[in-house]
Amino acid sequence: MKGRYPSVIETTSRHPLVRIKDSGRIFETDAHGRGLLSHPRLNKGTAFSEQERKALGLTGLLPPAVISPQSQADRIYEQYQRQPNDEAKQVYLTALQNRNETLFYRVVTEHVEEMLPIIYTPTIALAIQHFSHEFRTPQGIYLSIDKPDDIEVSFRNSGFTKDDIDIVVVSDGERILGIGDWGVGGINITIGKKTVYSVAAGIYPRRILPVVLDVGTNNKQLLEDPLYLGNRHERVTGEAYDRFVEMFVSAVERIYPGVLLHWEDFGGQNARRLLEKYKNRLCTFNDDMQGTGAITLAAVLSSVKASGVPLQEQKIVIFGAGTAGIGIADQIRQAMERSGMSAADAAARFWCIDRYGLVVQGAEGVTEVQKPYARRPEEVEGWQGRGGKEGISLVEVIRRVQPTMLIGASTVSGAFTEEAVREMAKGTKMPVIMPLSNPTEKSEAKPDDLLNWTDGKALIVTGSPFGDVEYNGKTYKIGQANNALVYPGIGLGTVAVKASRVTDNMLTAAAEAVASKITHNKPEDPLLPGVHELRSLSRHVAIAVGQAAVKEGMAPGGLQAQDVERAVDKAVWQAEYPEIHPLG
Ligand code: NAI
Repeated sequence: MKGRYPSVIETTSRHPLVRIKDSGRIFETDAHGRGLLSHPRLNKGTAFSEQERKALGLTGLLPPAVISPQSQADRIYEQYQRQPNDEAKQVYLTALQNRNETLFYRVVTEHVEEMLPIIYTPTIALAIQHFSHEFRTPQGIYLSIDKPDDIEVSFRNSGFTKDDIDIVVVSDGERILGIGDWGVGGINITIGKKTVYSVAAGIYPRRILPVVLDVGTNNKQLLEDPLYLGNRHERVTGEAYDRFVEMFVSAVERIYPGVLLHWEDFGGQNARRLLEKYKNRLCTFNDDMQGTGAITLAAVLSSVKASGVPLQEQKIVIFGAGTAGIGIADQIRQAMERSGMSAADAAARFWCIDRYGLVVQGAEGVTEVQKPYARRPEEVEGWQGRGGKEGISLVEVIRRVQPTMLIGASTVSGAFTEEAVREMAKGTKMPVIMPLSNPTEKSEAKPDDLLNWTDGKALIVTGSPFGDVEYNGKTYKIGQANNALVYPGIGLGTVAVKASRVTDNMLTAAAEAVASKITHNKPEDPLLPGVHELRSLSRHVAIAVGQAAVKEGMAPGGLQAQDVERAVDKAVWQAEYPEIHPLG
């Protein structure tokens, strides 16, 4: 793809000039000697050839042996394994990333199953919490609400211009993973997302720009921490917040026109509002809402296939009708509507339970987004708990409704009790049960219990990673609804075809692409692909997303559906060292 690798970039670290030729296989640079070794994109360490060492002023600066990239990777892995705990491993890998980017991506790609939980969730949560204490090398862009006029200059200082960037990942750090408000430490979630884009989908790391919007923090612990590196005041909200975000979005549009803007870990209210405000104005995507929606829809579609009960006939209980629960319900409902059901008939397939029990029209605490799913009072007349303080319980709903699918997004550990699950198994042949709450200790149920209580019949997808389960002499693999299975492919497909928007159809295509990879021949087969398939899965998702974009007219004219596969493959970067020559 023309223009993918810019011919000359001036980067900020020590300002070397780099000319990239031959689809990224040859770099020419004016960096040399120690300056070259300290540049993470150019550094090859002991893998510099004799010729390169001579030509680039490296003679005497490295041990004499010239080492192959594979044995470098092996040495790194050995050092990695010697780290005492997960956080030390995370710090070790970040240091490698800042020292030798290609080697970092090579090693992580090679050990993706083992290292994804270190560079991404759950270990990244520690890196975010300890950001101000562990801070070493700055990465990404820091924008402060106290200095909105610096937005433009901050982007310019990055050294990247309009052809250099494909994706901007932004967070305001308000609702990080399951750990809440971590202020400026939110930069680490955007860096983690960037890394996973490259590891999973092969998007060139330098073409992704992580950004944090520091609007303050309501986290007292941070405000009182003398080492805290962010703005030391409460979160700015309301008009001033909106004005700052608008200035940021306008600057992105001006400086990086056509870029994909990825929103990450904003507070629930802001996430929804900002996506609504900007989704028809530029190419943009909210991973917490849309990525989550796509991966859970994928889980639903593959469990529908496995259970043999068509989507239109599923009876779905959502336990925990908050941001994720309702987002998931919306996504499934839209899929039902696309298959020809009316909006009312589709909504009638759901029973939502929140902290006041079953959501019933006119009852206390029903939120705006829950209203489409609220059951009519006459339907639940005589149900146990009706009118009481606790409301109608999960067990009562299961007893009355005999659902086929139970989805948990409540953060209530152990909420899927033995009684509830056994009751569910009575009413349906293969109960689909998805305890999606994170982290692991908040999961609504454990897979081994679910299998025991349903005599091995349950079709299970979890939110947190669980190991294989031995049941009745068989090994059950448990699929995990991990956004990393889907968002990198959505990003790759979008940028490969230069789509102007991320549409619902593109997201559905992503979900269907993931589900199509599943063949559930035996009860013990997983309902979602595993992390070891990440690279090929992301390619598959990207092609489906790119084709959906072309079909909808979101890609530039001239691009045909049959061109998408080639465009995707051309956009993929492999973590291999380029030849490096002095700039001539
Ligand atoms: P949220 O706070 O918006 O929603 C939680 C909901 O559960 C609230 O509406 C709350 O009132 C309700 N709830 C609390 N106690 C309850 C009880 N005893 N009975 C019934 N309902 C109760 O949080 P959000 O963002 O929706 O996340 C919920 C969980 O889902 C988190 O653990 C999150 O990590 C997980 N999640 C997992 C995903 C995945 O697997 N890919 C994706 C998104 C979220």
